Amino acid sequence: MNTNYETLLFEVENNIATITVNRPKALNALSEQVHSELNSLLREFKEENKDFSIAKGMILTGAEDKAFIAGADIKGMTTMTADQAETFARLGQDNTLLFESLNIPVIACVNGYALGGGCEMAMSCDFIFATKTAVFGQPEVKLGLIPGFGGTQRLSKLVGRNRAKEITYSGRNVGVEEAKEIGLVVSVFETKEEMIEGATTYLSKMMRNSPLAIHEAKRVMNEGNDLVVSEGLNVEAKAFGAIFNSQDMKEGTAAFVEKRKPVFTGK
Ligand code: CAA
Repeated sequence: MNTNYETLLFEVENNIATITVNRPKALNALSEQVHSELNSLLREFKEENKDFSIAKGMILTGAEDKAFIAGADIKGMTTMTADQAETFARLGQDNTLLFESLNIPVIACVNGYALGGGCEMAMSCDFIFATKTAVFGQPEVKLGLIPGFGGTQRLSKLVGRNRAKEITYSGRNVGVEEAKEIGLVVSVFETKEEMIEGATTYLSKMMRNSPLAIHEAKRVMNEGNDLVVSEGLNVEAKAFGAIFNSQDMKEGTAAFVEKRKPVFTGK
């Protein structure tokens, strides 16, 4: 895998892949280059990790302490035409869809600002861990813009449409306590180091479970998010049936009956 990017850091340790957006001087703002590099990285990772040989969990974070991602790169947007802006939005949205389509859980580890595009990237991960300094928000209307990397859609689904509208129309900051209260954030940590350690511990424990079953749960839950319940139940029933053909299902149920720990292979 190509792991050599100008605006991203990528490393894998103990089956956990970490992507760090690395533009700390611009508070890790999402330029076209960041999105292009992220797109290449996620596509290659998705292709090569089909058998979980690279990683079974992922962390997305921002370099240094001040920001996770302070949004789309405002300076880069000042000269964009309408067509270029639409292409930029579609590229950012494609990256959010790629995170959602990875076969492993992705935790956004948010330190400092997660504004605009930063909040949007975090929301496309499976869930969000944050430090006490984390600040969320969709401040685009303050710039004469609207959210463009999925914020008009995902924030409503996460916190309810009316609360999402209130946050988006005001462009106000959402502190970490409120973010936890409204379900945007799952766990809060004192420091960035503790948060990364917490996410690593979480993912390591999760790896005792079947990676295939986690992938299927993720796929069905994400797909069902866009469907009416009866259609979502149909997707669930099909996946529930299909997983009975897997080695992991046979191993997990046999291990229970034989009173031993299962050894899952992701097959
Ligand atoms: N784009 C480009 N550069 C940014 C940036 C952004 N989103 N956010 C911060 N920076 C840059 C600043 O311009 C500054 O660079 P210089 O030193 O070269 O001037 C550097 O990062 C440090 O930022 P500040 O000096 O502003 O730091 P601060 O502590 O005073 O303020 C902040 C921090 C409140 C996060 C402030 O930087 C800020 O308001 N940033 C913009 C947040 C925002 O509006 N995000 C939404 C962007 S639009 C979007 O995301 C659209 C979409 O959905 C697709």
